[in-house]
Amino acid sequence: MATPSQRQTIRIIDVIRKKRDGGELSPAEIEAVISGYTRGDFPDYQMSAWLMAALIRGMSKAELATLTEAMLHSGQVLDFSELAGPKVDKHSTGGVGDKTSLVLAPLVASGGVYVPMISGRGLGHTGGTLDKLEAIPGFNVNFTLAEFRRTLARVGCAMIGQTAEIAPADKEIYALRDVTGTVESPFLICASIMSKKLAEGVDALVLDVKTGSGAFMKKMEDSEFLASLMVETGKRMGKKMVALITDMDQPLGNYVGNALEIVECLDILEGRGAADLRELCIEEAAWMFCVAGRSGTVQEGRQLSEKLIAQGSAMQKFREMVRAQGGDERVVDDRARLPQAKSTVAVPAVQGGLVAAIDCERLGVASLVLGGGREKKEDVIDPAVGLVVHKKVGDGVAAGEALCTVYYNSGARLEEAQAAITQAYTIAPEPPRERRPLLHKVIQ
Ligand code: URA
Repeated sequence: MATPSQRQTIRIIDVIRKKRDGGELSPAEIEAVISGYTRGDFPDYQMSAWLMAALIRGMSKAELATLTEAMLHSGQVLDFSELAGPKVDKHSTGGVGDKTSLVLAPLVASGGVYVPMISGRGLGHTGGTLDKLEAIPGFNVNFTLAEFRRTLARVGCAMIGQTAEIAPADKEIYALRDVTGTVESPFLICASIMSKKLAEGVDALVLDVKTGSGAFMKKMEDSEFLASLMVETGKRMGKKMVALITDMDQPLGNYVGNALEIVECLDILEGRGAADLRELCIEEAAWMFCVAGRSGTVQEGRQLSEKLIAQGSAMQKFREMVRAQGGDERVVDDRARLPQAKSTVAVPAVQGGLVAAIDCERLGVASLVLGGGREKKEDVIDPAVGLVVHKKVGDGVAAGEALCTVYYNSGARLEEAQAAITQAYTIAPEPPRERRPLLHKVIQ
């Protein structure tokens, strides 16, 4: 930690210039940036400049370690050792239609593993777990740590946002990065995710590192680099770590948008729903069981996950969690209780053929401009809007057939959303050259 006298001598403008010019920051300089910004000592525009410099210049391993620890220790580090049993979480680097957390927390908790999950909001074109949970009427993601602890002990899982006590530096910085084009840095993503996750008091962590057109890391080598940074960071802090590099070259599942994604999670918990989403939920749950020591192999973990869904235990746990967090559990039986968009419109294919590619980020942007995400920190989310995707890569489509259905409340930016969807699709006479797997790689 920087001493008060060191802090006084560090001027943020000098640290911004040093990073801009490619210098390596000292631990005291990094701590001064993080603690100064969290205290409100300097404004958003200086932090934005520093973030942009860090994004462009990158960081050394030593800088990343100090940044992660400074963000982690900006708040409390939880300890759940009084709970007998393994505590495991999973975190995704973010994607379009990526809703697995909402299935995994109750699913894995129903198998006897504690899941204390601290999540984030939508970031850029990607959705966020907290925004999705808040689509359930009454669901409170703003629990105090005491409420979080009680719910975890009673239910086995709890899903909340960063409280003022948990990695408060990340909470502030995350919101700023979202609107300043400073998300896509492996170092900033690593520090952001790991500072939250290391504060959670888990024994092990499963990371879902996305790769492809809807991910922040579009190229495989960048996703691998991010995965290894995070695995290394977690191991250094004594956690059992695994990172799955999974595909985000098209939306996961068929629903994009906060309330719509709750509907799709309910389908999965009922043993139905989109095959890709179901497969990834089972795979990630299997790894969570495995790193928790609840199953001897990943295959056993898969079987356990399938069983917990088939016998209704996972859905029962979802109900318990929703009830415990003040939400209306009646949404499970009556989805009309979720926020509903006033209007829908189909976006047709302009030509027939096969879907050769989807620019997944554009679909995320389509949902965002309808009100499903934020362009400015203070934007308010419309939980009802989004898209249902009817055509995925490799599917045949006739001219005029619907590619997606748009759910909207205001027509103000409807045309923009429709254009983004049309532009997202490449339709060709030939099928795509490469069929991408859902799970690309496992890094341990
Ligand atoms: N998720 C996070 O929590 N932080 C990031 O920076 C990106 C995804």
